[in-house]
Amino acid sequence: MYIHIPFCYKKCPYCSFVSYEKHFCLLDDYAKALVKQIRNFNDRNYTVKTVYFGGGTPTILKVKHLEAILRAIDATFNLDLEEITIETIPNNVKFEYTKALKSLGFNRLSIGIQSFRDEKLKILGRIHESKESFKAIETAFKSGFDNISIDLIYGIEDSLVSLEKEIDIAMNLPIKHVSAYLLTIEEKTEFFELKEMGKLKLSDDDFAAELYSKLCEKLESRGFMQYEISNFAKSGYHSKHNISYWTGKEYIGFGVSAASFLKRKRFKVTDNLKKFINNPTESFLIEESLSNDDLIKEMFILGLRLKNGIDVIDFREKYGVYVFDYFGDELQNLIDMGFLKFKNNRIFLNGCEAMFVSNSIFSELI
Ligand SMILES: C[S@@+](CC[C@H](N)C(=O)[O-])C[C@H]1O[C@@H](n2cnc3c(N)ncnc32)[C@H](O)[C@@H]1O
Ligand code: SF4
Repeated sequence: MYIHIPFCYKKCPYCSFVSYEKHFCLLDDYAKALVKQIRNFNDRNYTVKTVYFGGGTPTILKVKHLEAILRAIDATFNLDLEEITIETIPNNVKFEYTKALKSLGFNRLSIGIQSFRDEKLKILGRIHESKESFKAIETAFKSGFDNISIDLIYGIEDSLVSLEKEIDIAMNLPIKHVSAYLLTIEEKTEFFELKEMGKLKLSDDDFAAELYSKLCEKLESRGFMQYEISNFAKSGYHSKHNISYWTGKEYIGFGVSAASFLKRKRFKVTDNLKKFINNPTESFLIEESLSNDDLIKEMFILGLRLKNGIDVIDFREKYGVYVFDYFGDELQNLIDMGFLKFKNNRIFLNGCEAMFVSNSIFSELI
C-alpha cells in the first residue's frame, strides 16, 4: 500500500512529484480525506504486507494524523505487515517525533539526504545542510530505527573524487540502504527552464555513466549490494515494498496522484488537491485495463530492473509465455550484443554498463 502526502516546506527545483509548497492549513483536511478514502475501500480480500508513506514530505504530518491514517488502514484491511516506511527530510528528524513514529509501528525510515556536500545541496535548492543530515541519521538511529535508507542524487556538481568521498561519508553512518538517482530534468520544473536557457551545468552522458559505475563499485565494496538499477542494501535490508512493484505484485495507492494496480487494472487518484479533499471517495480514475500484451511487456521490463532479473520458467507460469518465443529476435539480439545475459534460466541486465542504459534497452522490447 502506498500513501501519498503531497506537502513540502519548499518545492525543489528539480522535483516533478505532486507536492505543494506549504499549504499547512490543509493538513487536517487532507488527513481526514485520506481516512475517508481508505475506509471507503471495502474489499476485505486483500492482505497488506508493506505500507509506504511517500511524498512530498510525509513527516510534515503530525503524529495524530499518521495515527488516524494507520487506524483506518487497520480497520479496513487484513494486515500481515512486514515493512512500514516513511520518507522524510533531514530537518524533519527530531527525537520525540521519530520515537513516536517507532511507537506507531514504522520500522523503516527513508531520508532524502541527496548529497553530503553543501555546495551541491545549494545547487539542488535543498533547505538543509550536510551537518543536519549527520544529525538526522544519528537521531533516527538513536530513536530506534535500525532500518534507515538514504536517497542520493548524482549527475550535477560531481567529480569522481567528490562522489567517492560522499559515499565514504555515507558508509560510516548507521544506514542499511541507499537509493542513488541520476538527476533527471523533468518538464515543468525550474531546472527544466534553466536547462532550456543553457544555465544548468549537468554531467554529460559519458561522465554520468562513469559516476554510476564508480557508485556501484564503491557501494558494493562496502557491503551495499546492488539489487536494482538505483538501489543498494546491506544483506536482508532491500526494500520489500519496492521489490513488490518490480515483481508485479498488486498494490493500492491512497492520496492525490497515487497509483494502484489491482485485478490487471491501473487506477490513479486525481492530482487535484482541492478535488481530493472535497470528494476523496470519488477520486479514483480508472485509467486503463491492461491487455495481455501490455501486461507481459510491462512485467518483463519491470523484472529486468532487478539485478537478478527474471526466471523465465516462473515468468511462463505466471504470464503464459516463454519470453524467447514471445520477444523473439529483439530479445536474442540484446543478448547477442551483450546488453542482456541468460544464465541458469534467468535473464538479467549484463552489468553496470547495461544498467546505465537500461531505458534504451527496454525501449527495444516495447
Ligand atoms: C519524493 S522524493 C521524497 C523524499 C523527500 N521529499 C526528499 O526530497 O528528500 C523521493 C526521491 O526522489 C528523488 N528525486 C526526486 N526528483 C528527482 C529528479 N528529478 N531526479 C532524480 N531524483 C529525483 C530524490 O532523491 C528524492 O529523495
Ligand atoms: S524533492 Fe522531496 S522535498 Fe523536494 S519538492 Fe520533491 S518531494 Fe518535496
